[in-house]
Amino acid sequence: MTTTLPAPQADDLQHDFDATISDDRRIEPRDWMPDAYRKTMIRQIAQHAHSEIIGMQPEGNWITRAPSLRRKAVLLAKVQDEAGHGMYLYSAAETLGADRADMTGKLITGRQKYSSIFNYPTLTYADVGVIGWLVDGAAICNQVPLCRASYGPYARAMVRICKEESFHQRQGYELLLTMMRGSDKQRAMVQEATNRFWWPSLMMFGPPDHRSPNTEQSMQWGIKRHTNDELRQRFVDMTVPQAAKLGVTLPDPDLRWNEERGRHDFGEIDWSEFDAVLKGDGPCNTQRVQHRRAAHEDGEWVRDAATAYAAKTAARRAEKKVAS
Ligand SMILES: [Fe+2]
Ligand SMILES: [Fe+2]
Repeated sequence: MTTTLPAPQADDLQHDFDATISDDRRIEPRDWMPDAYRKTMIRQIAQHAHSEIIGMQPEGNWITRAPSLRRKAVLLAKVQDEAGHGMYLYSAAETLGADRADMTGKLITGRQKYSSIFNYPTLTYADVGVIGWLVDGAAICNQVPLCRASYGPYARAMVRICKEESFHQRQGYELLLTMMRGSDKQRAMVQEATNRFWWPSLMMFGPPDHRSPNTEQSMQWGIKRHTNDELRQRFVDMTVPQAAKLGVTLPDPDLRWNEERGRHDFGEIDWSEFDAVLKGDGPCNTQRVQHRRAAHEDGEWVRDAATAYAAKTAARRAEKKVAS
């Protein structure tokens, strides 16, 4: 969406936009915004929406095999929440002029990304707990500051999403506490799942600051409030006592409290794994996108029916108007 305006008017608009950002007010859909801001916002919101929708798959995999009715009800509620998060976010992207069908098309043809964490498999029921604890826990660290993001519809969607994420984190942790009070085999399952998900969870914060070229601009625009490394550190500090209470060991021999810094030191992240998964070489990349594409194709009749119904209703309404 390119708007060419006479120079003085364009300067005024830019000035208003800059003032809104520096006063920590919100940019709303009808406000003028630089094309680059709009593009960045659309990319970020679409990627976030896709992550919510693809994120339904790893845990959805366990709904039919939940160990009890209660666990099934909890898991169903959680996975449904993720669908809702996707819907709020696609709607927020639409307020910027993005088209939902186009965003879905880009996801299923690999032209838009989603969070790499969902390209890892869920091998046991303990994974459901560990995903809630670590993956939703990391998502909360990332998303709480987004409640103050400069784009109004995104910030407001994040407020509700964060409330639900907090339920997700707790249901995961509660499941793990229950398993840790169970048999040796159950405790071993929790430890094994923690070993698999710890490092990928740390990667959820994105590349280290010196390799994150967009961070500075996003911070200037009030989209991002903290750098990737700051958020990662916050997550580690928050999670270490939770792991201790649970009785699991985080798989990092270099993890220890640093008295001087007042924070935890932790080991080097294997960024070559992050790069490989991002490029499409993770354990489940193909499966996740294929499944999403199949669901989209299976749903074609629903979209057709809804569109036909909407057209019919609009025609009836128009007829009534003419008659009265
Ligand atoms: Fe979510
Ligand atoms: Fe969640």
